[in-house]
Amino acid sequence: MKIAHISDLHFGEELMRGKVEKAVKQINEAEPDLVVITGDISCWGIHSEMREAYETLIDLKPDVVAVPGNHDARNIGHEFFELYFGGTKKYYKNDILSLIAADSTQPDLDDGYVGYEQREWIRSKIKKEKFNVLALHHHIVPVPKTGRERNVLIDAGEMVELITTTGITAVLAGHRHMPYSIRLMRTHIIHAGTLGSFKVLGMPDQNYNIIEIENETLTLKLRFVDFGEVEVGRFTIKTETPESIDIYHRIAKPKRVLFVSKANDCRTQMAEAIFNKISPNNMLALSAGLEPADSVDLRAMAVMKELDLKVNGKPRRVSENMLKDFDVIIEFDDLGLGERWEIKKPEAIEEYREVRREIWEKVEELVRKLLY
Ligand SMILES: [Fe+2]
Ligand SMILES: [Fe+2]
Repeated sequence: MKIAHISDLHFGEELMRGKVEKAVKQINEAEPDLVVITGDISCWGIHSEMREAYETLIDLKPDVVAVPGNHDARNIGHEFFELYFGGTKKYYKNDILSLIAADSTQPDLDDGYVGYEQREWIRSKIKKEKFNVLALHHHIVPVPKTGRERNVLIDAGEMVELITTTGITAVLAGHRHMPYSIRLMRTHIIHAGTLGSFKVLGMPDQNYNIIEIENETLTLKLRFVDFGEVEVGRFTIKTETPESIDIYHRIAKPKRVLFVSKANDCRTQMAEAIFNKISPNNMLALSAGLEPADSVDLRAMAVMKELDLKVNGKPRRVSENMLKDFDVIIEFDDLGLGERWEIKKPEAIEEYREVRREIWEKVEELVRKLLY
């Protein structure tokens, strides 16, 4: 599987037309399976620039998948982009590849943004049995040698997590005109330089990438239009999930605990109060009953007050939503709804204190378990 990755052509005032035309011929000779264009086809998103680009790139023989860049999103350029290059986000697949091409642009803004809905769309297109490649214009991680860092994706953090946890083999991006690649966990983040603009930064010439994915190996070559090519990396493709990300994720997730009994008037109320006292702020407990009593047991309230703990006013009724939404369900009676805590309902006042101690210990243990 061979991909020609080109970017930042900048048809219009920055264009070095001869370079693009020559690259089109070279790419056709190299016979890649696919050409991916990661945006900035034009300078100002205007009709004439898009048309000129279309008429030049139509000579490419392989399939072409293009996404817009910030320059293409100027002056309602995305409408002309769609006219000549199809939808601003696309999905392409063949026997071994699943290519998810996302639109990171916002009209008339240079900043990149993928957004929640598109991230969910990306997630839905990831195929376990294929090499998943994500293409977009803006960079997910900062690119060196571009001066002051600008326009890294606004939701870069979410994107870093998405690519590292879902098994994306490679990310293809452009925007900074600086060819550069870096591996983040198991994902290869590959930036293309500019193919058409005279702004080549420190590079000797306009350039693009040739990426080969074969037998668990990804090979990356940097091709200069007039100065040959160099292999910049040969990497083993890793498929195992990086565990550290899952651990951070698990810790940061808010957790809800439901204590249930028949009446919700005593032990469950105590457990709720103790849990909410000793757990961190990303955890919350609630208690409820299948047949809630009219009021909370006065002695339960009294022994909680001894420790400055307030029991919430009234017994509640368990709802379907509670049973569905809570992360942990603890039951004090035999209800078959969750994990059973064998603590008997107290009678004498001394038993209330004993029950309070037992619940406290169990809640401490539960909080420790939920932390990591
Ligand atoms: Fe650009
Ligand atoms: Fe750009």
